[in-house]
Amino acid sequence: MAGSAELQDLRARLARAQSVVVLTGAGISADSGVHTFRGADGLWRNFRAEDLATPEAFARDPRLVWEWYNWRRELIATTRPNPAHHALVEMERRAQRFWLITQNVDGLHRDAGSETLSEIHGNIWMVRCTGCGQISENRQVPIPILPSCSACQGLLRPHIVWFGESLAQRDLDQSDAALESCEVMLIIGTSGVVYPAASFAPVAKQAGAFVAEVNLDPTPNSDLVDVTIRGRASDTVPLLL
Ligand code: OAD
Repeated sequence: MAGSAELQDLRARLARAQSVVVLTGAGISADSGVHTFRGADGLWRNFRAEDLATPEAFARDPRLVWEWYNWRRELIATTRPNPAHHALVEMERRAQRFWLITQNVDGLHRDAGSETLSEIHGNIWMVRCTGCGQISENRQVPIPILPSCSACQGLLRPHIVWFGESLAQRDLDQSDAALESCEVMLIIGTSGVVYPAASFAPVAKQAGAFVAEVNLDPTPNSDLVDVTIRGRASDTVPLLL
């Protein structure tokens, strides 16, 4: 855990930085009651990703995949942004240049009011037609299984980046540009093992940024960052304002 001097130093750096990038993972939403993936109760402890979160799994058994996403949609629908999400909205408001990159698909950053963000793994409330490719918002809980496209009747899938799929080029370009030019990078609640997000801290560090991590546990990023704040995101992120 960083001492209060380190916390104060980070707060001062954030306040005067010309450009701030924040990368978030499931840990920031854990305090809202959303499952993480790799913790003690993490989703990938109880489910096999290859059965549920790959294009092959969806081609094999779209019903099973939709049932799983329906379960997650039901849980996430009951959650609300926590003080860490709200603090990042305020950070965005105060910063000269700010970019939020989230791996989370729960939409809680948007619900809190964040505007300059890339949801690089997609959003659980968006669906995409496997036929015509149309992307639309769908907040039905539960969503009728199997859902079909209103334009072409094709099968809808969650608009989420699954294992083995590439991120949208626009998200990669926006993230790269922000990381290459940021003065301070803040990494919150990610295990830092899923690429390409796992490479973002090294990119920012290489480009000369001051990099800080907020996490309950050590991660592969911990050795690289300039300061680590050990604690729950909802307790610690508001202290950085
Ligand atoms: P993980 O579940 O891998 O990691 C969550 C991290 O948050 C861990 O390092 C925890 O120690 C930390 N953590 C847990 N609770 C916390 C809290 N209250 N405050 C601060 N930190 C906390 O989640 P991600 O790194 O987001 O992909 O996982 C990356 C991707 O893997 C996800 O986006 C998902 C998954 O497969 C897709 O859905 C496409």
